[in-house]
Amino acid sequence: MNAADLMTESLAAAAEAGWEIREPLFTRFFKAFPKRRAAFLVPQASSIRMTDETLQIMLGLAEGADWVWPQIADIVFTHRAYGPLPIAEYDAFIDMTVKELARAVGASWSAAHQQAWQTQADVLKQKIRDARREWAAGAFGNDV
Ligand code: HEM
Repeated sequence: MNAADLMTESLAAAAEAGWEIREPLFTRFFKAFPKRRAAFLVPQASSIRMTDETLQIMLGLAEGADWVWPQIADIVFTHRAYGPLPIAEYDAFIDMTVKELARAVGASWSAAHQQAWQTQADVLKQKIRDARREWAAGAFGNDV
């Protein structure tokens, strides 16, 4: 099974288990970074998209999907409105997302699933760095 198929299998297993990833994920994130809690005005709403998009982007990276890079660049841009977000918080959020997915999948999570997700988690972390650098350098055009 290739990486994208393994990842799709994990998402299906998590959905079948009927388990919410985002509540424990955001609880864990706010515990690690309590000062960030105030930046989330309506976490019940924004946590849905933040969690889903993080998972979809990692799957999209494994599939080599064209939409992924513009999406990452867009997220990095819009997140600048939430204040200066340390790169360590992005890294932690991405790793925590994979950990909570693994927990949700449970017994059928294998070393191969772990490797498929962690590989794309690390690619996503790098691409966020690339997007931050390119925005800072004005590579995408004028800031609005
Ligand atoms: C790859 C990682 C991330 C992705 C894909 C992502 C995605 C998103 C999306 C799609 C939204 C919009 C939600 C909505 O309007 O419904 C959002 C909101 C937000 N994100 Fe992220 N995010 C990521 C990481 C982070 C990190 C690490 C932080 C903080 C350090 C952060 C802080 C915020 C804040 C403060 C909001 C606004 C919440 C609100 O208004 O209630 N995000 N994020």
